[in-house]
Amino acid sequence: MTTPAAVPDPADHDRLLIIDFGSQVTQLIARRLRELNVYCEIHPYQSVTEAFLSGFAPKAVIFSGGPDSVTRDGSPRPPRAVYDMGVPILGICYGQQVMMQDLGGEVISGHGTAEFGRAYVTPSEARLPLLDGWFSGGREQVWMSHGDHVSRLAPGFEVYGTSPNAPFAITADPSRNFYAVQFHPEVHHTPNGRTLYENFIRLAGFAGDWTMAAYREEAVQAIRDQVGRAKVICALSGGVDSSVAAALIHEAVGDQLTCVFVDHGLLRQDEAEEVVGMFRDHMNLHVIHAEEQDRFLTALEGVSDPEVKRKTIGKLFIDVFQHYADQIEGAEFLAQGTLYPDVIESVSFSGGPSVTIKSHHNVGGLPEKMGLKLVEPLRELFKDEVRALGRELGLPDSFIGRHPFPGPGLAIRCPGEITRQKLDILRKADAVYIDQIRRHGLYDEIWQAFVAILPVRTVGVMGDGRTYDYACALRAVTSVDGMTADYYPFSHDFLGETATRIINEVKGINRVTYDITSKPPGTIEWE
Ligand code: XMP
Repeated sequence: MTTPAAVPDPADHDRLLIIDFGSQVTQLIARRLRELNVYCEIHPYQSVTEAFLSGFAPKAVIFSGGPDSVTRDGSPRPPRAVYDMGVPILGICYGQQVMMQDLGGEVISGHGTAEFGRAYVTPSEARLPLLDGWFSGGREQVWMSHGDHVSRLAPGFEVYGTSPNAPFAITADPSRNFYAVQFHPEVHHTPNGRTLYENFIRLAGFAGDWTMAAYREEAVQAIRDQVGRAKVICALSGGVDSSVAAALIHEAVGDQLTCVFVDHGLLRQDEAEEVVGMFRDHMNLHVIHAEEQDRFLTALEGVSDPEVKRKTIGKLFIDVFQHYADQIEGAEFLAQGTLYPDVIESVSFSGGPSVTIKSHHNVGGLPEKMGLKLVEPLRELFKDEVRALGRELGLPDSFIGRHPFPGPGLAIRCPGEITRQKLDILRKADAVYIDQIRRHGLYDEIWQAFVAILPVRTVGVMGDGRTYDYACALRAVTSVDGMTADYYPFSHDFLGETATRIINEVKGINRVTYDITSKPPGTIEWE
């Protein structure tokens, strides 16, 4: 197996392999294991061949759930060799059914076999070390989501737990360390699921050596090995990923790293000063502050179509970045804050190209254009691990916990034509809103919050006078990964107080609305 550049070599750690059969929640399995300091990788079942298995040399294997039915000919399978490796295996949902059928049991589908949502599992007589810490209250709540179920156990297996619709909810062959459960222990709605994973990795003998302190040390060495004496450039956005990548690379190669912070005039209040100040003054990084507001805002004049806005900004960003990077003589590497979820090749059952909802802004395409090699020291990490690594590296909590901010910035929070006047109003309203959220101690409960200024002016009355000013919308959502989101249920008091403050403190706004759309059908940003 090849190791991505500038990333600690996972071969130095005990490794767990997750074979993905296409479940919606496979990534959660990996996150639970990483929380337990176990290094794991997700690979789609199609790429897990016998040769892959022996190269990967897992210390344990987990089969994920999946949408298919094992009763269908040609349904996804692991290679037979996985059962002969002598390593513990845990099968979850579809993974349970696959294991059972592969090893000689039986699975049925059809009327009466389905079970979706919350269910309760009760234990059988026999004890199983996998269930240490379970059933102290007599039964355990679990999350089920299955159409088929096991109807006859494979030889060597026994049943250790039952739910009303899954007579074989927990099954195992302890002599081979094979475990198979019908429910999803990785989801939040199986409250004691973590204990099950803890037991599994204990039974598999993992050392629990995957920590961010260890990662930091190994990553620093890997970056030094990759980069040597060459120079590295990094587009610093002020977001958590590029910030942590920059801090890590700086620790590894010091002044060989130059960061470029492109100020496109679409940033929030005081943002440029905060980001540049922190990296330049507190962390001693070499940061070029590219003040290119005029260039971007001129290019955006008269543009109101969201995709044209995004494309205009994306293209200019690359031109500007390239212009500054060209001045750094001898730059051979481009640093990027790519995360593990971006590199996982997910199993797609729908096939076919997906529709582009929005053209996301990134610096993709630059490395080839400029002949640069990539340094991606976060490729192995999930977002919460990146935050932990950031703390390890001494980035302040206030910075690490910041809400995400999109590359095109305020442009996509200003539907219709962008003007400097609207941007100024928007920045002020946004600052008041975020201040309100912080004052009420809600910032960390919310995934992302911002104001959008609407292309509508409305009539109001202030004092004895008539006003004719802009309306704005407040947005606040909860989310795990930005893929789906729900609006945050502020109290009416909070909303009323915030509206009053915005209208009193921000000249140019006389009406405040609250956006209560979830995603889907909405998106988080307005454009
Ligand atoms: P949407 O609006 O698509 O946003 O629901 C999901 C998440 O992605 C962020 N976002 C972006 N991030 N470049 C980015 O770096 C972009 O072009 C971009 N567009 C949206 C958005 O803020 C939310 O967190």
